[in-house]
Formats: sequence, C-alpha cells, structure tokens
Amino acid sequence: MMRAGLVGWRGMVGSVLMQRMREEGDFDVIEPVFFTTSQVGGKGPDIGRDVPPLKDARNIDELRAMDAIISTQGGDYTGEIFGKLRAAGWKGYWIDAASTLRMEADSVIILDPVNKHVIEDALAKGGKDFIGGNCTVSLMLMALGGLFRAGLVDWISAMTYQAASGAGAQNMRELLSQMGEAHRVAKNLLDDPASAILDIDREVAGTLRDNSFPTASFGVPLAGSLIPWIDKDLGNGQSKEEWKARAETNKILGRNDDLIAVDGLCVRIGAMRCHSQALTVKLKKDVPMDEIEAIVASHNDWVKVVPNQRQASMTALTPTAVTGTLSVPVGRMRKLYMGGEYLSAFTVGDQLLWGAAEPLRRMLRILVE
Ligand code: HSE
Repeated sequence: MMRAGLVGWRGMVGSVLMQRMREEGDFDVIEPVFFTTSQVGGKGPDIGRDVPPLKDARNIDELRAMDAIISTQGGDYTGEIFGKLRAAGWKGYWIDAASTLRMEADSVIILDPVNKHVIEDALAKGGKDFIGGNCTVSLMLMALGGLFRAGLVDWISAMTYQAASGAGAQNMRELLSQMGEAHRVAKNLLDDPASAILDIDREVAGTLRDNSFPTASFGVPLAGSLIPWIDKDLGNGQSKEEWKARAETNKILGRNDDLIAVDGLCVRIGAMRCHSQALTVKLKKDVPMDEIEAIVASHNDWVKVVPNQRQASMTALTPTAVTGTLSVPVGRMRKLYMGGEYLSAFTVGDQLLWGAAEPLRRMLRILVE
C-alpha cells in the first residue's frame, strides 16, 4: 500500500480534507502516516483504526520514507521543507494546497475533472509535484469547463465575491464578531418598531468606523461592507488574486502559448466559505443558449445549470444553498446586449471543497488506482 504522509491535517483545509477522506474511504486504500509541527509522539486522528504516533513534520528522514506527502500546512512549511526533501533525494509525490510551487515548471495544478489529461501526461513523464489551484480559478473552471473544452472561450472577465474562509479561519471568526457587534449597537433601536431606520443606520455606520470595531484579521470592516482587494498589491494596479486568474487557468488547461485572457476584480464579501463570481464570457462564436447550457451541464458530475429565473436564482445560486456541498451551480446565463458572442454567468462554489481539499484527495486516488 502507498505510504502517504499527511501534514497540516488539523487546520481548516486539513480538517475538510480529513472529513472527505473518511467519507470516501480513502484511508482504506493508503497507509496514512500523520505528521505534526507541534505534538510529536502524540496520538493521531480517529480514522477507524490504529495509526502510529504523530511524526515530526520537520524530520526529513521521516518524510523521506513516504511514497506521497499531502500538505495543507501552508506556504511557509512548503517553502521550508520541499527543497530540502528533494535535495535529500526524495522521489515521492508532493501534493500541496499551498500556492508556493504552483507556477513552477515541474508542477501540475490539479483539478482532475478539468485537466485529467494534463495530470496523466505529467505522470507518464515522471511528474511528482501536484499542487492545488487558487480556489476562485478552480471553481470557475468547474463551472465553465465545458465551454473551455469545446474551445469556445475567447476571453473571460471574472468579478468575484469571495468568502471570509479564503482569508483564513481567524477571518471567519472575525466576520461573525463584526456581525454581532453591528447588531449589538443597533439592538435597542431594532427592538422598538417605532424607531427610525436612519437612526439605526447611523449607529451601525458609527460602530463600523469606530477604532474599537474588531478588525485585527481583515484590517477593515467586512460585515456591512466589502473589501475590494484580495492578496498582495503587484504594483501594476492588479492584485495577486487577479493575476492568478489568467496564469493558473492556462496552466491548469496545459496551455503554454495562445493564452486565454482571464481578468477582473476580486472582492471580499461577508459570506462564510463559498466564493461566487459574476462572469462575462466572450465566445469565439455565437452559439445558441440551449447548446451552451448543454455544453456547460455535461462537463462534469458537479456542475449544475440553474435556470435563469428569479426564484431559482435566489434559492439555488447562493452561498447559503451551496455551503458544505460539492455542487457547483452556474446560472444567470444569457446573451448580453453587446452581442451574441457575449455571455453572462454567475457561479457559486465551496472554496474549502473544490477550491482546496477535494482536488488533493482525488489526486491521491489517481496515484493509487
Ligand atoms: N486566495 C483565496 C482567497 C483563497 O483569498 O479567497 C484560496 O485560494
């Protein structure tokens, strides 16, 4: 059996990964070895059978004994350990959720419902580094993979509505603290049906702007507001999150030239763990809507076309409907006034599942099967 080391399994993405691996019986087909950066010798997680005591995630010799390593420990760990492991002659498979190695020439960005052929080509050529993609990019490709596969995409503009979880577990907690604080200051007025809405609004705006409002993680209020910048400032007007759209989309699809342009603005909103995106797609030709819907719907088992109607959109195409599921609904599809080659779409996906954990466990399955 393949000896697979797991690092970072206690964190947020790691916990989702563990849950999915238990649900899918992945631990039945591998010999898991759990690593830790803090509790060496401690007890491993409950996977329904005994596992050895936790091993040291910084011990290169222990890591070298693995056939594969799955890391959800984060980019700093990858930066510290991966180079040393390879320098020590380790030839195992490195499967990683962090972005550190994503754009390396030897890395494949894994999203097998979209790029199984790229993964298999790399394996056939001896590829060993398999890295999870940016969540927004992966979710966009899960939604519109059919249009890419059909060669219909000229360019895409993606305007995102990204959840707190993409920034980290502490940020999810802070969002809720902010929501609670906004409610607390308005509660007495809210309880009085005769109070004026503008008085309530003044109280809320006052607390959002107050220095005591909890913003340690986000730096600014998110509840009752939004943050129109995600990740680093590249200094050219683009955020790093926006840069990833084109770079990673083309790498996932295995395109080295004739790159498809994907660009837009990335915005943080007050959802918990589902990223949403409003997409404008410039098609290469004017394809009828019923054909477009069929192409999109038939691409993979998780994408679901939501009829472009009010009630269906309000109930099925929201973070509330999607959170905690692998479903990737795509709706609001129609031709825009700009012409028959201009398609709108709106999609929602759980960024901790398809956006982070799920491609990793599926890569392990590909290696095992
Ligand atoms: N960069 C993403 C975000 C997270 O901040 O929402 C995961 O790719």
